[in-house]
Amino acid sequence: MKKWQFTDKIIAPSLLAADWGKVTSEVSRAIQAGADWMHLDVMDGNFVDNISFGPDMVNAVSESNDVYLDVHLMISKPDEYVARFVKAGADLITVHVEADHDVRETLRAIRAAGCKSGLALNPETPMEDVLPYLEEIDLLLCMTVVPGFGGQSFMNEVMPKVEQAAAMRDLRGLSYHIEVDGGIGEESAVIASAAGANVLVAGSSTFKAEDMAKAVKGLREA
Ligand code: DX5
Ligand code: ZN
Repeated sequence: MKKWQFTDKIIAPSLLAADWGKVTSEVSRAIQAGADWMHLDVMDGNFVDNISFGPDMVNAVSESNDVYLDVHLMISKPDEYVARFVKAGADLITVHVEADHDVRETLRAIRAAGCKSGLALNPETPMEDVLPYLEEIDLLLCMTVVPGFGGQSFMNEVMPKVEQAAAMRDLRGLSYHIEVDGGIGEESAVIASAAGANVLVAGSSTFKAEDMAKAVKGLREA
């Protein structure tokens, strides 16, 4: 079942940490474990120092399971690829404010295509850089690691930005979700939730857990 609005927490396991030898059954395993969304990390070897997968993989996941697809584009020219990821079955497309594009136009193109729009900012990017676009987004992604690789440590110093994002949402009467991504486990989930994040992306702590259902439940209750 595809879902968007939640009052509660959304747990989004990142496919990056799954066993790629059996991707679609890994997605089924995540759904059975209680995942709300699947988080798909697209990397181009240019915006970040790693290459992952593109629209064809998103499409394979989309065809195999009925799950909400949260597509995180870590690519230099996201505007050139929006249409392809929409076609591939993305439900939410998140682009980086630091990438080389007209941010407002890209966000509008995502919404015009019928998808939810997300905007991401790296740990070192100040909140000021995203303020002009808050009216155009359905989700703000505060990276809690420098993007590129799974399995890195959660950066506590990003939490003031999450708090600011929540305060700004109230101030402007907006309703975007606040997502955190990178180094999320039970302990950091408590910290990020307290700061105001409601969408938790977790790769290693879910797919590599001994008991994935227990890991997802732990994050939800954190
Ligand atoms: C980092 C990616 C993350 C990553 C998270 O570049 O955007 O989504 O998969 O992995 P963990 O949870 O292992 O830090
Ligand atoms: Zn991600």
